[in-house]
Amino acid sequence: MDHFQYRDGVLHAEDVPLPAIAEAVGTPVYVYSEATLRRHARVFREALSAVDRTHFAFAVKSNPNLAVLRVLRDEGFGADVVSIGEARRALAAGMPAADIVFSGVGKTDDELAEAVEAGIGQFNLESEEEGVELARIAHARGLVATAALRVNPDVDAGTHDKISTGKADNKFGVPFHEAPAIFTRLAALPGMNLRGLAVHIGSQISDLAPSRAAFAKMGGLMRDLRAAGHAITHMDLGGGLGVPYRAGEELPTPADYGAMVAEVTADWDVTVMFEPGRVITGNSGVLVSRVVRVKRGANHPFVVVDAAMNDLARPAMYDAWHDVVAVLPTGGKTTANVVGPICESSDTFAKNREMDAVATGDLVAFRTAGAYGATMANTYNSRPLVPEVLVCCDRYAVVASRIDPATILAAEQVPDWL
Ligand code: LLP
Repeated sequence: MDHFQYRDGVLHAEDVPLPAIAEAVGTPVYVYSEATLRRHARVFREALSAVDRTHFAFAVKSNPNLAVLRVLRDEGFGADVVSIGEARRALAAGMPAADIVFSGVGKTDDELAEAVEAGIGQFNLESEEEGVELARIAHARGLVATAALRVNPDVDAGTHDKISTGKADNKFGVPFHEAPAIFTRLAALPGMNLRGLAVHIGSQISDLAPSRAAFAKMGGLMRDLRAAGHAITHMDLGGGLGVPYRAGEELPTPADYGAMVAEVTADWDVTVMFEPGRVITGNSGVLVSRVVRVKRGANHPFVVVDAAMNDLARPAMYDAWHDVVAVLPTGGKTTANVVGPICESSDTFAKNREMDAVATGDLVAFRTAGAYGATMANTYNSRPLVPEVLVCCDRYAVVASRIDPATILAAEQVPDWL
């Protein structure tokens, strides 16, 4: 359930009509609903209430906007970060350092050092090499870094190849069969408090069976490590739960996921950690865009909108589907291709799509754009960086300004030899 609904024929974000935001801020623009963010955070937490001890670390990469992070901090979430930039954002939003998990396969020494000094709560180690480095950095400062070892369970999450992370040939984690030996060596290092294991098999997961299999494997590994004398107090199960992108699409719900997790972890006696991203932010945002023109095509018309693949990269990158709806539908329907102005054919949001009929100047909304939307935006074709707006009941505020091409140009220099 989200708070983007039609009222009197106009698509609203909570109590704010989207045309009001489009007029005031311009298009394209991302619009987030605070009530939806809070609802999703609560639904997810509630779904896991059968698990005794839990920790929720919002996957910042899905939507790192400062205001969004502040909302999630208010909801009691910590953060899962994958760069020192994301860690700084989480801290700036007021999340306690102790509630932050630092994941990521390429943490640099500088990043590790800054994070250790900031008191980051848990480092999810992606390799033995990283663990050795982290321990050295912490020990040299008279500190102890708290960590979990990320293990690659060699389970296929059954999602898009580009967002699968749990197969043996993916770059993430240490190989399952090597994990006990690596754990034992790392746990012995001065400067290292290795307290648990971490796993994350992929994103937009639409079938719970692979997750169940991966978690069960991790439970077995945990038991083996305990039998070998290690104290395992934390198990991080990552994120990945998928969300419906098409109206009417049926996916496992947070409650289904929670029931599965509760069953698998029933006798674990640990703090179970979660890193949800998309399930919190995905349906909390839309991308509002204006139709520049409707152009005749060989088969179907091209609806050319002022948003492009630089603003919403998912269709171009993963052939992802986003519902496109008219903000002020007339009731008419059409079959069309929805495209952006960028000069490559991958700048296509929808092909041969049955959708609301729209005309030049009309507003459209791309649904389910709150996760991996603005955060993956760039300025290709010297386009502005897309702004973001947060709505709360009948109020709204720009929470990220549009960065215009002139500002970006001003950061470039012609060297003196030219
Ligand atoms: N934890 C780790 C270690 C991750 O790598 C990710 C996502 C998450 C948590 C959060 O996953 P979520 O709950 O959001 O599925 N740009 C792609 C998605 C990339 C996901 C990367 N890792 C997309 O637009 O579909």
